[in-house]
Amino acid sequence: MSESKNLRIALTKGRLEKDTVGLFEKIGFDVSQLKDKGRKLILSVPGQNIEVVLAKAADVITYVEHGACDIGVVGKDTILEYGGKYFEIADLGFGRCKFALAVKKGTDFYSGYGVKTVATKYTNVTRNFFEHKKMDVDIVKIEGSVELAPLLGIADGIVDIVETGTTLKENGLEVFEDVVPISARLIVNTVSMKLKKDAIDNLVEKMVEALEKGEN
Ligand code: PRP
Repeated sequence: MSESKNLRIALTKGRLEKDTVGLFEKIGFDVSQLKDKGRKLILSVPGQNIEVVLAKAADVITYVEHGACDIGVVGKDTILEYGGKYFEIADLGFGRCKFALAVKKGTDFYSGYGVKTVATKYTNVTRNFFEHKKMDVDIVKIEGSVELAPLLGIADGIVDIVETGTTLKENGLEVFEDVVPISARLIVNTVSMKLKKDAIDNLVEKMVEALEKGEN
């Protein structure tokens, strides 16, 4: 738990950042620092006892789990891949996409008897998906542009995030099967949940109310 009386919130940089800042704006926070942050990584919300930390998705989980931050906004994709001990308390509804198994257009992933090779950045999600199906696959870890793996012939399919489907389409791939839907989640440190309960409840209530009004 962060030591001060302030609530420290870890925001995932990039895709989820804009929607989260938009949500803060809707609940009446002064987001001027968040919008004009330059290279600063810890920002304050004037008039509120709130500090905002901008971090990569997996680090949001680390900071919340270790109590450096009380609250985190992170995608379900990262939660499923990295796990960890914290409370997942709300689905924020934005950042919607999915994990999907994709293949070269027109390919049947399940045809034939050989063990298939699947490339992914998300090895735990992929392992769980195929274990659940009781299907043996070889998993190859790729760090970026996973779409290349089937095109270069090192994998029969990929498990990756699909949002608009444009990346797959432009590279001659298609979704073969959906794995799981994804959206942004609010996570809370387990100790903060007890010791800063009122402040957290208050903030979460405001966020959920704004989301329910469809204002984000
Ligand atoms: C993700 C994913 C795909 C792309 C899908 O990558 O890995 O490449 O988005 O989006 P689309 O369906 O709208 O085309 P991202 O841009 O998040 O970067 P990453 O490779 O660093 O994960």
